[in-house]
Amino acid sequence: MRKKIVAGNWKMNNDFNQAISLVNELKRMDTFKDVSVMISPAFPFLKTALDLLENSNIEVISQNVHQNQKGAFTGEISVEMLKSIGVNKTIIGHSERRAYFNENDSVLLEKVTLALSNNLDVIFCFGEELLDRKSNNHFQVVKNQLQNTVLNLDKHLWSKIVLAYEPVWAIGTGETATPEQAQEMHEFIRKCILESYDKTTSENVSILYGGSVKPSNANEIFIKKDVDGGLIGGASLDAKDFHLIIKANSSL
Ligand code: 13P
Repeated sequence: MRKKIVAGNWKMNNDFNQAISLVNELKRMDTFKDVSVMISPAFPFLKTALDLLENSNIEVISQNVHQNQKGAFTGEISVEMLKSIGVNKTIIGHSERRAYFNENDSVLLEKVTLALSNNLDVIFCFGEELLDRKSNNHFQVVKNQLQNTVLNLDKHLWSKIVLAYEPVWAIGTGETATPEQAQEMHEFIRKCILESYDKTTSENVSILYGGSVKPSNANEIFIKKDVDGGLIGGASLDAKDFHLIIKANSSL
C-alpha cells in the first residue's frame, strides 16, 4: 500500500527564530499514524530542525540539491553535505527552480540520479503552465516532463521516489486545481508509469498534489483515489493550517 504524505515546502521564508518557533509548534501537535509528515526549512536551519525533531515523526527534508558530487560550485549544496547532517530526502524539480534557475529536464535527471545513487530519496516535482492547460496540452507536457526524467530510472529506484504534480498556474495564486482536475492528472501519471514499468510500480508510488492547498480545500482533493497527499507552500508556514491539512489526509 502506498504512503499518505503531507510535506511542507517552506521555500525562502522564515528567519532562524521563526523557523525554530514553527518547528516547536509542529512538534507539540497531535500526530496521525497514517500520514507521513515532512518539512523543508532553508539550508542554514536544517541541522537545528533535525535536532529539535529527533524523537518526533516529522521528517526534515531539503528543498534542492546540486547535480555534481562536489567541487567548484560556489553557493551550492551537495548530496554528501545533506547526508552528513542526517537529511535523507530532497525535493527536486520544483517549478520555481525550473523557472528562476533554468533547471531543465536533463539537469533534473542528473540531480535525481545522483541523489538516489547516494540514498537521498526524492520528491520529484513537475506540472504544466497555464498556457499548456489553456491549449489543452497539459497531459502531453506532463508526459514529456516524466519521460525526460524519472521514467528513465531503473525500476528498483521507484521505491525511493515520491511524485508531486504541481500545476504552475495553481502555485501561490490561490487558484487550486479542482479535485477532478487533480484526480484525472494523477490517474494519467499512474498510466504513464504503468506503460514504462508495471502495475506494482505505478500503484505503489505516492503522488502528491501541490498548488494553493489550504485547510478549506485539502480534504476534497485528498479523498480522490489517486491523490496521496500534498506538497504545501504558503499554508505550511502556519502551524495550525499545516496541522489541519495533515488531519485532512488522515483516515483515522
Ligand atoms: P502554495 O501552496 O503556496 O501554492 O505552493 C505550492 C508549492 O509550490 C509547494 O511546493
